[in-house]
Formats: sequence, structure tokens, C-alpha cells
Amino acid sequence: MSKKEERGSFSGRLGFVLAAAASAVGLGNIWRFPYLAAKDGGGLFLLVYVILALTFGFTLLTTEIAIGRKTGRSPLTAYGSMCPKMNWLGAVACIIPAMITPYYSSIGGWILKYMTTFVTGHGADAAVDGYFGGFITSQWSPIIWFVIYMALNIFVVFKGVNDGIEKMSKFMMPILVILIAGISLFSLTLEHTDANGVTRTGLEGFMIYVIPSFEGLTLKKFLVVLMDAMGQLFYSISVAMGIMVAYGSYVKKDTDLVKSVNQIEIFDTLVAFLAGMMIVPAVFTFMGTEGMAAGPSLMFVALPKVFQAMGSVGNIIGIIFFVTVTFAALTSSVSLIEAITSSVMDKWNMTRKKALTIVSAYIVIVGIIVCLGYNVFYFEYTLPNGSVGQILDILDYISNNLLMPIISIATCIMVGWMIKPKAIIDEVTRNGEGFSRKGLYTVMVKFVTPIMLTFLLLQALGMLDWLK
Ligand code: PHE
Repeated sequence: MSKKEERGSFSGRLGFVLAAAASAVGLGNIWRFPYLAAKDGGGLFLLVYVILALTFGFTLLTTEIAIGRKTGRSPLTAYGSMCPKMNWLGAVACIIPAMITPYYSSIGGWILKYMTTFVTGHGADAAVDGYFGGFITSQWSPIIWFVIYMALNIFVVFKGVNDGIEKMSKFMMPILVILIAGISLFSLTLEHTDANGVTRTGLEGFMIYVIPSFEGLTLKKFLVVLMDAMGQLFYSISVAMGIMVAYGSYVKKDTDLVKSVNQIEIFDTLVAFLAGMMIVPAVFTFMGTEGMAAGPSLMFVALPKVFQAMGSVGNIIGIIFFVTVTFAALTSSVSLIEAITSSVMDKWNMTRKKALTIVSAYIVIVGIIVCLGYNVFYFEYTLPNGSVGQILDILDYISNNLLMPIISIATCIMVGWMIKPKAIIDEVTRNGEGFSRKGLYTVMVKFVTPIMLTFLLLQALGMLDWLK
């Protein structure tokens, strides 16, 4: 098989949009978005998020997909082929998924473990205090679940762009939307009276989620909401890690990129919104407003308790929930592995099988080290943004908080000032497509987006601590 054939391509716009949306819809949509929305004044956060998606998100997503399609290359070589001075960007854009995949897949293993716990009817065990801590600190179990999770990923990436990634996305994404919509409607019907005789309902929780709260809103609080929404959006649309460049390179030349970008964003935002509609009312009903403060541990600690409190139906809801999360995680990690594999294939002229073997061996080794970070290699390290973490958190911090904004700032500088926005606009409108946000795009890519991203970077470096 010639190299060109082996690269593969999406069959059409639907396949591409679903695959890109499948990458974008991930753990961030399901646990982080609802938690931030609840923390940041409900509807106010939603409003800011949507405005940012239409401006900031649209700029970054359009840029990366167009770079991929224009060059027809994977991230490692795409940037350099557009602008030789920016060759280094490709290397960093590949280091990011190489840092993220091992820990994202370790979390994928945790999710598989929880899904199995609920499917086998042991959901009640997961609601017991210390269950999560006991699991991740045990020596073998997290490694075994991680390896099983990786095997699923490798199977899909091995099948290639069309038979693997596109098929999986077309199968899993519609199911994911139906399941998540189902539980979110169910969430609205909940009602619970706690030990103090206070009754709370899902509908009240839903109101907290969607009605903008301007109470006590100051400029400083607004900036916190803005930074949270921007950080979340940036992570959620899977930019700055080479994925969208790789996927862009598999898009046919006659596909309408403007429509595709819109649809990817609508899909991603809709799933995030539904996830909030599923989680915020449920947690509010059973745990009150304080329950929402659970943050990252929400999914593994607080939610199993919520499912338990629902009574007999809780185990079924738990199964549906963890199947949904498994789908969301799997489709995201597959996209990460694809970004690295395609780069190795292009750069060293390798077959998919050979490149994937090397990439998988690397991920498995680093992933095992990440798992051991909670027992054999346990330490506590304080990051520049003040949080204390283990190996997983350090990899997450360096990739997400530092390297990703740097990549996107550099991409904006390259497009805005070196190769000029016209190069991207021409690619987007190559078949005469309408691009009504052309002017907005130019201003965003040259000025607004890099400046906003610089704030995100400064915040990660702990230089905006007054914003807390
Ligand atoms: N966009 C994903 C999310 O919202 C994040 C992600 C995608 C992370 C792909 C890694 C790989 O969760």
C-alpha cells in the first residue's frame, strides 16, 4: 500500500465533524464544565462561554483545521511546511499529546473500572468513603485497567482513519448524546428531603445552572468567570495539541470548513450543556450547593454517592453515566494517539502498524509510571499555580497550562503576522464558500486571541493571583 493511501481520509463532512466532535467531547465536558458553571454563576458562565466559542474558539479551530488541510500533513511537519521558521512548533505540538495521552489514558482506566463496578451491580461499593483513594493507591489494579483501556485505543487507531476513528465516532457519538440527554431529563425529575427536613428538587438545581446570577458581581469576579470560561473552552475544543491539524489533513478538499467548524462547536457545547443539566441538578438535589464544590473528585467520589442516594434506579443511572463517560474518554484518547502516530508515520515514512507499535510502547511505559505515582513513586509537589500534585498533575500542568497556550500564541503569531490570515481564509473559501466572519477572524487571530491566551499563560504561571 502506498503511503498516500495509508494516510486515509474521512468519507465526508459528517464523518469529519463527528470525529472532530468526538475528540472535543471528553472528560472536560462532563466533569469540568458543569463544575465551573455551578461555581461561576450559572447562566453568566454559559453566556460568556457561548460568546467565546463564537469568537475565540472559532478562530483557533478554523486555523488548525485549515493548516492541516492546506498542508495535507500531520502536526510534526505541517507548521514548518507553511512557515519554515516555525518548524519547532510542530515538534512542541507533538510533545503535548505525548505528555497528555499517558495520563489521560490512566484516567480512562479508572473510568473503565467504575463502569465495570456499576455494570456488575456493585455501584454501592463505589459510594463508600475511601473507595476511590483505595483504588488509585493500590499497586496493580490501576495498571491493569489502564492497559485494558489502551488495548481498546490501539485497536481503533490500528484500523485507521476511516475504518477505525470515523466508524467509532459515528457509532458512539449519537449514543452518547441520547444517553446524556436521557439522564439530564431524568435529573430534572429528582426530589429529595435531607436529614434536616430540607427538600430540594432537580428543577431548582436546573434554575441555579441556567439563570445568570449577577449577585455581588464585580469586575474582578467577572474576570474570573472570563478566565475560567476561556480556559475551559480552549481545552474543550482539542486545539493546541496537533489533533485538529491531523484531522484537518484527512478532510477532503471539497468539504466546507466553515460549516464544519460551526457544527463541531455546536456539538461540543451542546454536550457540555447537557452534562451540566445532568450533573448540577442531581448533585444539588442530594448534596446541596456545597456538593458542587467537589471539583475534580466530583465524578469518582461525589457522583457515586448521588447514584446511591437515588435508590434502586441509581445503579442503572450509574451504568448509563459511566458508559457515556467511557465513550467520551475513548474518542478523545484515540484522537491523541492518532495525532502522535500520524506524525511518526509522516516524519519517518513508516507504516501505521510500525508507528503505532512504537507510540503504544511509549504510552504504556509512561502510563504505568503515572499509575505508580499514587503508590511506589508518590510525592507531593507544589505547582506554580499553587495546587499540590503527583506525576499526573505535573504532566497535566506542563502540557495544558504551559505548553498549550504557548503553541496557540505562536500559531496566532505565525498566521496573523508571518504567513498572514489570507492564507487561512483562502483555504477556507477555496470552493467559494461564504465566510462571513472573515473580518472578525483577522482581528481575532492577529490581536485578540494571542492577547487573551497570554493572560491564560500568566495565570498558569501564578502571576495573576489577585484574580482569585
Ligand atoms: N477536549 C477534551 C475534553 O473536553 C480534552 C481532550 C481531548 C484531551 C483530546 C485530550 C485529548 O475533555
